[in-house]
Amino acid sequence: MATDSEQSEQVTEHGFSPERRNFVARVSIGLMGLGALIVAVPVIGFIIGPLIRRAPDVWRPVGKVDDFKIGTTVKVAFLDPSPLAWAGVTAQTAAWLRRKSADEFVAFAINCTHLGCPVRWLAKANLFMCPCHGGVYYANGEVAGGPPPLPLFRYPVRISQGQVEIRTSAVPLG
Ligand code: FES
Repeated sequence: MATDSEQSEQVTEHGFSPERRNFVARVSIGLMGLGALIVAVPVIGFIIGPLIRRAPDVWRPVGKVDDFKIGTTVKVAFLDPSPLAWAGVTAQTAAWLRRKSADEFVAFAINCTHLGCPVRWLAKANLFMCPCHGGVYYANGEVAGGPPPLPLFRYPVRISQGQVEIRTSAVPLG
């Protein structure tokens, strides 16, 4: 056991008493933790913020009205409503656009309502087919067979200044 004179020597040798050293160590750890938190919160927010934020609905032009023949269904590509900064080529999405008359269009999401695989339009069969699990949809997007629980999602479509525009929105999956 250290005598009073040994303890006072220890204090003199290191400049701090053991209690004071513990206090300083705790304050240092606390300040480091606070510093790490100040750096981490914006970084985490930057990474997960776009994942939890609701994508805004945006009108995207997909081509001139005259580019589409009446009675045909074609694939059109457009930018995702809220592309992530690191999305790259996956920021592009697509829809099946059908021109029904001179001024009437309908747009179906390309994603199957089962698990989201891209469906194909088979013009000769007049059906949409999903290659993943054999889901089949009628031309109006209703389910004809297979596992899809819901019809194909439809995007609102409008004509604005000679352009066909699709209003992007989150596609619900079954
Ligand atoms: S993802 Fe289309 S049927 Fe499963």
